[in-house]
Amino acid sequence: MIPMNNCSQAPQTVATRAAIERYLASWRDDGMDWDTWMTEVHLAKSAFASLINASPDEIAVFSSVSEATSAVASAINFGSRRNGVVVTEAEFPTIGHVWLAQQPHGARVSWVPVRDGVVRPDDYAPLIDDDTAIVSACHGYYLNGFMHDLARIAEIVHARDALLYVDAYQTIGTVPIDVKALDVDLLVAGNLKFLLGIPGIAFLYVRRALIDALQPTVTGWFGRSNPFAFESTQLDWSPTASRFDTGTPPIINAYAARAGMETIAGVGVPAIRAWLEVLGRRLIDGGRERGLTLHGPDDMSLRTATTSFVVDDSHHVETAMRQRGVLPSARGPVIRLAPHFYNTLDDVDVALDTLAAIVRP
Ligand SMILES: Cc1ncc(COP(=O)(O)O)c(C=O)c1O
Repeated sequence: MIPMNNCSQAPQTVATRAAIERYLASWRDDGMDWDTWMTEVHLAKSAFASLINASPDEIAVFSSVSEATSAVASAINFGSRRNGVVVTEAEFPTIGHVWLAQQPHGARVSWVPVRDGVVRPDDYAPLIDDDTAIVSACHGYYLNGFMHDLARIAEIVHARDALLYVDAYQTIGTVPIDVKALDVDLLVAGNLKFLLGIPGIAFLYVRRALIDALQPTVTGWFGRSNPFAFESTQLDWSPTASRFDTGTPPIINAYAARAGMETIAGVGVPAIRAWLEVLGRRLIDGGRERGLTLHGPDDMSLRTATTSFVVDDSHHVETAMRQRGVLPSARGPVIRLAPHFYNTLDDVDVALDTLAAIVRP
């Protein structure tokens, strides 16, 4: 199979499998090795931190992006004057759902539109005012691979003293991300897509200067300064971003996540991005030559690793492509082709030929 569904689930690697087997061996041989397991979770946080130029103390761990977003929302006081939430229509639905669920607490949700498959930076400013608490913007649009200019958005958001929350699930591991240079306040991503991991784990970056002021009501014993103090009657907040941690962390997932992130770091994100720009260009140009309809911008500087083509019945097309040895990813009106660093120009050509043969027989 040619894996072109990396925007959805990357293939299993030898390193990821070995990492999961290390956990299974530890459990089998030692019964319980809590210290080693906690160290693994910390090492996974560190691997995530170094991918985005953060410190491990600025990282919390969750089981999903949805859970992390709910925890962030729970740390905002929507009963205060600053109760505005500005969300892009390009968010993965779960992000929209979490913000909408805050309305009974006083949140006022407004939407930055998607127009012609992109979100324009100029559409943010009219929606942000001095009552805006947070702006929620994805780095890459899951549907068509449009990529936001985060530094520009951060400037607009910070001009009004609001917070910028970024879902980087569709870009992390394939686009260099420096949270300090981009001036992002909070950033979330999970691991099963381009980070070569498995479901059940996600990481949240919280800017150091913000940590003291945030007290998430989605919480638990791992959010305390010493989870192993077992003080039921005291709610002391961890001084680090681990105050966002909730219950027993996803341990087996942390083993797999670190293995995936170390593979990515070993290859190097700038090199990965450079190659994916070549493959992305080939997808766009090759798609046009074969009469396929691109969804989203033609300019690679505005695109993630994902290229989407409009099709009539994306799930039927996905099944038909799988039967012919190519794994794509169907989403609503499009079929997504999302190569990674291990894909070749030949893979791209075969994927395009296969898609074209199905939609334009
Ligand atoms: C951009 C983006 N955010 C969030 C999610 C879902 O996150 P989770 O299932 O971890 O809540 C996805 C896809 O699964 C996604 O593509």
